[in-house]
Formats: sequence, structure tokens, C-alpha cells
Amino acid sequence: MRKAEVLTLLREAGGYLSGQELCGRLGVSRTAVWKIINQLKEEGYGIEAVPNRGYLLTASPDLLEEGEIRSRLRTRWAGGNLICCRTTGSTNADAKAEAERGAPEGTLVVAERQEAGRGRRGREWFSPEGSNLYFTLLLRPACAPDQACMLTLVMALAAAEAVREQGLDAGIKWPNDIVISGKKVCGILTEMSAEPDFIHYVVIGTGINVNQTVFPEGITETATSLRLEKGESVGRAQLLASVMEHFESAYARFLKTRDLSGIRADYESLLVNKGRPVRVLDPKGEYEGTAAGIRENGELLVKLPDGRMECVYAGEVSVRGIYGYV
Ligand code: BTN
Repeated sequence: MRKAEVLTLLREAGGYLSGQELCGRLGVSRTAVWKIINQLKEEGYGIEAVPNRGYLLTASPDLLEEGEIRSRLRTRWAGGNLICCRTTGSTNADAKAEAERGAPEGTLVVAERQEAGRGRRGREWFSPEGSNLYFTLLLRPACAPDQACMLTLVMALAAAEAVREQGLDAGIKWPNDIVISGKKVCGILTEMSAEPDFIHYVVIGTGINVNQTVFPEGITETATSLRLEKGESVGRAQLLASVMEHFESAYARFLKTRDLSGIRADYESLLVNKGRPVRVLDPKGEYEGTAAGIRENGELLVKLPDGRMECVYAGEVSVRGIYGYV
């Protein structure tokens, strides 16, 4: 992937990079470098070529294309196998198909648009083209099937940390929605193939409303995007790369203990429900209390009016703020 290598070198240079240096680092001729530079310019990259100084990268298009993403990834394994599609049904379905074919841990499927984007509880995930992030990461974790649901919280932390790098005050609504100003900007859907005591694979699908400005009726009150909150558009490839970096770090901490003890403090520091009144929509009966934090297995701790502590398991119930979505 020569394009990605050229982009990586130009980015790392942080200024002009001579043609000679580029040729040397890539082990190709000046003509070959010149061809790649022209190809990149045709794709919308701004590259200045100044005699005796070299090449300077001045602008990058907001593309979710392999070269663009690879040149920004600073991960050891996440995204090592990268599959980018313009349009697909659902990146979760694609990642599962890849997993069945034996794809390695860290396979990342990214799409510009999904025609059958899926949310939690069988809901649809609105996935228009060109403005958001839809991606799924394939994992083959060495843990028990009942520990896999915690991975959703690991991704929630990674996504929230990456969004916060944009200067936005993003928090986590337990277990895995990312919210800004009380509105949702990101959702996560984790699916698994397992036997009772063995995980074949886990796919974690994440949708982030990045540069979307209009939302379908029904979610206008509860959804927002990074662009709406920040007042300017956000580069999607860099954001994706940042989520992957944060995920690698949080996942390593998860694997050490196979629970959330290593990320619990970070997660709780971003947990918007903490200390707030919540209504637990338990199929066995709804009740209210105050969210106190999470347990090491990802359950939400809810303090009941009589002082007792209830542990809420994400798979069974959902939690609402009493005064709104959070
Ligand atoms: C939710 O309901 O909050 C979860 C939404 C998850 C959406 C993402 S977009 C990428 C991946 N592919 C899907 O079909 N769904 C997830």
C-alpha cells in the first residue's frame, strides 16, 4: 500500500520532505514517487512540491479509504487487517462473515454508508453516506463468554476518550452510549459467536455521528453529532484511528484481569449517570434509584431509596434518566 506509506511519511515529517528522502525510505524511483503524489492529488490531497525543499502535505480529504486510515493508525494490531467499503449492509454482518472465514483479531470493517445498519434491541441505525463513522472490530478474546459483554464498555471508554480529544465534553451513558450535552453521539452493538465455555469471536460495531447535521424525525431530541456540538467538522479517519489506539490500551487492561478493574476508574470518571437518579426498566418490574458507579463485571450499581444497593445487568434491562435521556 504505497499511498499509505507516502501519506504516513509526509504526516510524520510535519513539514517538507525531500523527494530523495521519500525515494530512499520507500526504496522506489523518483518517477514512482511522483506518480503516487499525482494520484494522491487527484484524490483530493493538497500536496505542495517546492524545488530543493520537497513535498508538503497541506490538506487531506475526509475519506474513509484504506490509505487515509492506515496512514493515521498508530496501533499494534487493531486495524491491521482493514476492510473499507463504500456501501454495505452492516459492518457487523461483514465482520462476522470475515470471522467465519478465519480473519484475525483486529480485523476492522469500515463503511461510508450502511443499508441495514443495526442498533441494540433490534432497532435500526440510521447510516447515511459521507458524514459519519460506522465500523466493526473483530476480537478473539481469551475469556469466557459471560465476560464478553464487558467489551462493550471497553469500547465505550475508547470512543468517549477519542471524542474528548476533539475538545468535546463527552460522557458515557451506561452501558455504552456516548453523550454530549445529554444527547447521544455514538452507539455500540456487540455480538458474539460462542460455545458454552469458548468464544469463537466477538464483533464490536460502533456508529459515531460525526458530521451529520440533520436527524430523522423521532431522534432529533435525543441525538446530536460532533459537528453540531463543536461548530466545525471533524476528520473521520483521524477519529477512527484514535478510537483504535484508545481501544488497544483499554483492551490490554481488560485482558490482564478479564474484568473492568483496570479501566473502572477511567470509565466512572466519564459516567454521566453517576450520582443521578435513574429508572431501571427491568422486565420484572421498574424501579428508581441513584446510579452509584459500576462493578468490575460492568453491572451498574443503583442505590435504592431504602439504602440497599442493586446490581443492574445490561443484557436484561435498560436505564433511563428520570429527567430525560441521561
Ligand atoms: C445502538 O443501538 O446504540 C447501537 C448502534 C450500533 C451501530 C453500529 S454502526 C456500525 C455497526 N454496524 C451495525 O449495523 N451496527 C453497528
